[in-house]
Amino acid sequence: MTASSDYTQDDVRAWFDSTYEEQGFKYLRPIDAYPIFVQLLGARPGESLLDVACGPGLLLKAATLRGLEATGADISARAVEIANQYVPEAQAHESNAESLPFEDGTFDNVTCIGAIERFFDRPKALAEMRRVARDDARFCFMVRNASTLVWTLWRKLLGKQNKAGHQDALDLEQWKELFAQNGFGVREVHMDQWWRQRLRKVFRGFRKRDLRRDEPVARPWIPMRYVNEFIFILEKLPDTAS
Ligand SMILES: C[S@@+](CC[C@H](N)C(=O)[O-])C[C@H]1O[C@@H](n2cnc3c(N)ncnc32)[C@H](O)[C@@H]1O
Repeated sequence: MTASSDYTQDDVRAWFDSTYEEQGFKYLRPIDAYPIFVQLLGARPGESLLDVACGPGLLLKAATLRGLEATGADISARAVEIANQYVPEAQAHESNAESLPFEDGTFDNVTCIGAIERFFDRPKALAEMRRVARDDARFCFMVRNASTLVWTLWRKLLGKQNKAGHQDALDLEQWKELFAQNGFGVREVHMDQWWRQRLRKVFRGFRKRDLRRDEPVARPWIPMRYVNEFIFILEKLPDTAS
């Protein structure tokens, strides 16, 4: 499942560079939305975490607040620059997910949030994430669902898909198949938690949330296959002898 596009990888990189230059953190969700990924991984203080396509470092910040040693990689030089200023205790590197600058078996946890659907060669990027992870590593990937009204009507039929940012989507079964074919076992699938997090924020009013504390994990009130985005918690399957 390699994505095709009218845009080149350099075009996509340039689009993200200018988006971060113009919008900075406003392009993304606020920091409150990120600790849930570390929570769902069950990552423990002192463990290492690699965030692939880390953007300006929101997940790196959430991970370091929970005592993890965080490292990031992103194709956008501007994102990496912002991330290294925002989270100096982590280290972000400019790199394509398809060729990560890390040794085999380095990380206890690997995350990739809102980005796998944007990669040109998904199997190559998945192989890289698997390679740099330890054998007992856990993975948290948030990916977009193609079986929603927003995707099918708004983005596909009405042409609102962001092609310059190489936006794409697959359905639940296709994601599962892609991960299985590339050596990942699915431990859990959750719905995107963002709407429920926003609701809780409304009830909290001006009170700030403690980002180190776990939060309730929301379950979908519609079948999982129709939720907006999926959060996959995965493990590395043993290499198959070929
Ligand atoms: C929607 S943003 C998500 C950023 C971050 N994961 C977050 O949730 O805050 C997608 C990110 O993917 C990065 N990206 C896109 N293609 C990439 C690739 N081939 N390798 C590494 N990063 C990539 C972009 O630069 C951008 O920062």
